[in-house]
Amino acid sequence: MGAGIAQVAAASGDRVVLYDVGEGPLNVGLARLRSALERAAATGRIDSDAAAETLARVTGTTDLASMADAELVIEAAPERLDLKQDIYRQLEAVVDPECVLATNTSTLSVGAIAGQLAHPERACGLHFFNPAPAMPLVEVVKGFATSMAVMDFASETVRGWGKTPIVVADTPGFIVNRVARPFYGEALRLLGDGVASAADVDRLARDAGFPMGPFELMDLIGIDVNLAAAQSVYDGFFQDPRFRPHPIQRQMLDSGRLGRKSGEGYYRYDSVPA
Ligand SMILES: NC(=O)c1ccc[n+]([C@@H]2O[C@H](COP(=O)([O-])OP(=O)(O)OC[C@H]3O[C@@H](n4cnc5c(N)ncnc54)[C@H](O)[C@@H]3O)[C@@H](O)[C@H]2O)c1
Repeated sequence: MGAGIAQVAAASGDRVVLYDVGEGPLNVGLARLRSALERAAATGRIDSDAAAETLARVTGTTDLASMADAELVIEAAPERLDLKQDIYRQLEAVVDPECVLATNTSTLSVGAIAGQLAHPERACGLHFFNPAPAMPLVEVVKGFATSMAVMDFASETVRGWGKTPIVVADTPGFIVNRVARPFYGEALRLLGDGVASAADVDRLARDAGFPMGPFELMDLIGIDVNLAAAQSVYDGFFQDPRFRPHPIQRQMLDSGRLGRKSGEGYYRYDSVPA
């Protein structure tokens, strides 16, 4: 998601610094960004000069101190509260007092992520959808302390990037992930109960007008990322059975079938995408 969000901001003319924890994952993100721009230019969705200019606005780093001049930082690390809190604490030590800290969390509480900050009013959620360059909606989440100035800045920033901001409350899964949980959950139960195959469920969903079926969507999102979101919403609602993850998700994760990114999920993919 980080690479996709970087592409969105850079395509609109903003200078972007893409951070990751090591050269390996950083290069994966930069390669993903480069190949997305090449594909967009090859298919005529953008011209090749615009693609080159977008790429030139993005620099990679493994040093969080490179964020010192940032006006806005969007964190898109794995869906774990302790990890995100730790990143926020480190960021607050390096960024300017005016810098806005946003999180791309799908399900976690923005208030909890920002709770340890000296200035929690600077934190908000900016929840993009996958793939970020193509999906118009962004949920803008108001944490318990988020200032209205920060909410306005965040909404106007993503609007300037061509997105449609929707302000949502800080509840588990916000709106979209809460609505989406039963979509995945019932599909998994159909598969687990032997009622239908993944391909049949997906075909039916597409025939009914959905752009993608639940299983191909889980493969796109990442089985690990989707299970973390499911677990987080389940825990967020105190183990309400409506949101219980399915054992198939755990089996997929434990066997390394993470979806497109690992070359196999509910479907096989010829090559692992860059
Ligand atoms: N995949 C989706 O469809 C999707 C959609 C919307 C929101 N999200 C949310 O975006 C976030 C990231 O999801 P993703 O699918 O990009 O996950 P991912 O696992 O593909 O990528 C996570 C990235 O974070 C990096 N990382 C690991 N530890 C880090 C740390 N301590 N500091 C900074 N970076 C670190 C990893 O190296 C990796 O590049 C999650 O909060 C997820 O819920 C995901």
